Amino acid sequence: TAMKYFSIGEVSEILKVKTHILRYWEKEVPFLIPKKSISGRRLYTNRDIQTLFRFKYLVQKKRYTVKGAREKIWEDLNKKDDTVSASFLELRTELIEILAKLRRNKNRDMEIELFAKIKTAGQGHIFDFWEVRSESQQKKLIEDLKKLDFSLLNTLKNELKEKLKVNGKLNAVFEPAPYIPLSMSRGDRNALKIGRDFIASGKTAFLTVAGGQGSRLGFEGPKGLFPISPVRKASLFQLFAEKLLAANKLYSVSIPWLIMTSEANYYETVEYFKKMNFFGLKSADIVFFRQGMLPSLSPEGRLVLAADGGLFQNPNGHGGVVKALHDSGTLDFLLEKGIEELFYFQVDNPIVYVPDPLFLGFHLRNNSEMSSKVIKKAYPEEKIGSIGLINGKPGVIEYSDLDKDTMYSKAKDGRLYFEQGSIAVHILNVGFLKRIRTELPYHIARKKVKTLKPNAQGADLVEEEVIKFEMFIFDAIPVARNPVFFETDRKEEFSPLKNRTGYDSIETCIAGQVEKYSNWLKDAGVIVPVNKAGMPLYPVEISPLFAANREVLKMRKEELPEKIEKETLLL
Ligand code: UTP
Repeated sequence: TAMKYFSIGEVSEILKVKTHILRYWEKEVPFLIPKKSISGRRLYTNRDIQTLFRFKYLVQKKRYTVKGAREKIWEDLNKKDDTVSASFLELRTELIEILAKLRRNKNRDMEIELFAKIKTAGQGHIFDFWEVRSESQQKKLIEDLKKLDFSLLNTLKNELKEKLKVNGKLNAVFEPAPYIPLSMSRGDRNALKIGRDFIASGKTAFLTVAGGQGSRLGFEGPKGLFPISPVRKASLFQLFAEKLLAANKLYSVSIPWLIMTSEANYYETVEYFKKMNFFGLKSADIVFFRQGMLPSLSPEGRLVLAADGGLFQNPNGHGGVVKALHDSGTLDFLLEKGIEELFYFQVDNPIVYVPDPLFLGFHLRNNSEMSSKVIKKAYPEEKIGSIGLINGKPGVIEYSDLDKDTMYSKAKDGRLYFEQGSIAVHILNVGFLKRIRTELPYHIARKKVKTLKPNAQGADLVEEEVIKFEMFIFDAIPVARNPVFFETDRKEEFSPLKNRTGYDSIETCIAGQVEKYSNWLKDAGVIVPVNKAGMPLYPVEISPLFAANREVLKMRKEELPEKIEKETLLL
């Protein structure tokens, strides 16, 4: 019969010895080196495996040193085989072959089962040209498919069909929704006190969603690490940490901070916090947790391959936070700690005002389970969600789901009919999150991506349109008790970092911070020179540690310059 060879992976399985150990032994013990193929792959013979078995036995069971075992085997090899040991050898040879076959079959059985399941689900194409794919591509796909939730896949497919049927048109009655205007909330001392007392009682936490892919910004690494402050170039995470430190001091509390990442940016985020010594916060107060993933589909509802040969998947959207809080046990952690309300915000808005006691006061006084900050849209197509009544219930429609007619429609006074947009700053009640179902509706987005297309020669990377599914947190609003829409001032609280250039870009985000802090300084009596366009001449930055809001800045007037004459940092 032809000589049979085993790969290092197979030998590793048969011997139950890791491949790196095998390679180490081989370095120390020359006669453990197997023959190699032209391409350099190790080809183990049955004889090699037997020697390895013996070597392993001596080292692991008999406690020989590597050198001792080497000498012992050398002795054995130089002894003449007698008949008994010869037949014994033969027997072992057969055993090894059976063992290997069994393991190969076990894998194959599983593959066959998976094949059948995928075929039944109408996704058989995912195995096209299976035999010519590389081992690592095969492995990755099997891994992903084992984790795939087939009923969820069905839901997504149906969702896609429905969405394509209505062709992006809003399938509901959409009317303007009532909200609390700035003019009404601004001077409400009672709400302010309610909010302040509640924060001081230690029943709130920060919740940052930072699992996005940040593809528009095109930054290597999690967006929260992006250096964005005007003078120091402090990162987004650092700015939020300073808001938290300032609040802890102001209210004499220790506010927990929940940070949601994706699978892809979890480690980098955690490592960054470690490197920065948690910015002086207690590490026990910071909880990192990961959101789930959803498979992308072709417009026809077929699974798609990613470059690594696995399934093409994406994080399940900021709405995935409800499920992730549940699944990670974070909700129970909060209940145990007596935390009742969460200040939810996105990772991309450096001037978010958290914690905001006035907003919280309105939320609590209205006995609301979910409240949202809104602003006047800057222009009809602005990429923020529009608030409204959806079939009579308060909710938000994402810009991408809003048809043009609705987007541009105007009221009699010439103002936009849907004028108020959400800035993705919410207060979420913990009991509410515990009560609602964790799956929110799925939204679809079309994206051009590089996908793997297997063929007879192997596989090519091809650019293709795929449908990405995401959940949005604001879809929890319609199921919340007494949701509140609370108007706020864009210049004070919203300057998102989305794009490299143009709208909502690095430049506009920095300008937004400079403008806000210049306004505070003017308000405190400092002269702030401006250019012809009315924009501040010099970059200014006020750390939350120096002043968390306008009022605090005014109280520190003696420490402020009379006039801004150069780049200025207040820390
Ligand atoms: P965006 O909708 O701006 O998406 O996220 P993005 O992924 O960050 O950026 P692009 O579209 O690829 O350029 C808004 C907020 O929601 C978070 C983001 O981290 C950001 O804070 N988010 C988004 C998640 O936490 N998870 C997601 O799956 C999606």
